[in-house]
Amino acid sequence: MLEPDYPIRTARLVLRTFTESDLDALHAYQSLPEVARFLLWEAMTREQAARSLKHRVEHPTIEKEGDGVVFAVEHRETGELVGEVNLGWLSAEHGSGELGFIFDPRHHGHGYAREAATEVLRMGFEQLGLHRIIGRADARNTASGKLMERLGMRKEAHFVKNELVKGEWADEVVYAMLAQEWQARP
Ligand SMILES: CC(C)(COP(=O)(O)OP(=O)(O)OC[C@H]1O[C@@H](n2cnc3c(N)ncnc32)[C@H](O)[C@@H]1OP(=O)(O)O)[C@@H](O)C(=O)NCCC(=O)NCCS
Repeated sequence: MLEPDYPIRTARLVLRTFTESDLDALHAYQSLPEVARFLLWEAMTREQAARSLKHRVEHPTIEKEGDGVVFAVEHRETGELVGEVNLGWLSAEHGSGELGFIFDPRHHGHGYAREAATEVLRMGFEQLGLHRIIGRADARNTASGKLMERLGMRKEAHFVKNELVKGEWADEVVYAMLAQEWQARP
C-alpha cells in the first residue's frame, strides 16, 4: 500500500496529484508526436487527454498489486507542470514494481526527470517496500536509457523486435534496480 504524503517536495520540484485544472498543460505534451514517438499510444486529442487525466485524478494511491499512480511534476518556482512520473505495483509476491516518466520537451535537459524519478524509486523501495523496480523503453529511446543509467539502474535485457510501435517492430530494453542497490547507492 502506498499513500504518498502529498505534496512531495524535491530541490526544484513538487510531485503532487493531478487535478482537473491540469488538462491544458497535460494535453500540451500528450498531443506532441515527438513525445509519443516511442510510446505505445499516439499523440492525443484533447478528449483522450481528458480521459487519461480523469483516471489519474481518481487513482492517487496504490492499494494492491496491479495498481499504479501517476504523479504530476510541477516546478516549485514557476508552478508549471513540467511532466509526470509513475509507479506501478507489478507483483506483491515478487515485490516488483515499474517506474515510468514523460516530460514536456520544453522542460527536457534540466535533470527534472532524474530528480522526480529518484523520488519515485524512494517511494517504491522505502514506502511500498519493493524488492525490485524495473523500467522499460524502446531501445531507440536513448534519452530514456540514459536517464535510467543516471538513476543507477542496470541494463538487464535487450529484447529484439518484440513490440509493435507505430507499425514497426521495435527492440525493447529493460533496466532494473534492487532494494539493496538503492540502499547502497553513493
Ligand atoms: C525520457 C525523458 C523523460 C528524459 O528527459 P531528460 O530531460 O533528458 O532527462 P533528465 O532529467 O535526466 O535530464 C538529463 C539532461 O539534463 C541535463 N541537466 C542539466 N541540468 C541538470 C541537473 N541539474 N541535473 C541533472 N541533469 C541536468 C543533463 O546533462 C542531461 O542532458 P543530456 O541528455 O544532453 O546529457 C524525456 O526524453 C521524455 O519525456 N521523452 C518523451 C517520453 C518518453 O519517451 N518517456 C520514456 C518512456 S520509456
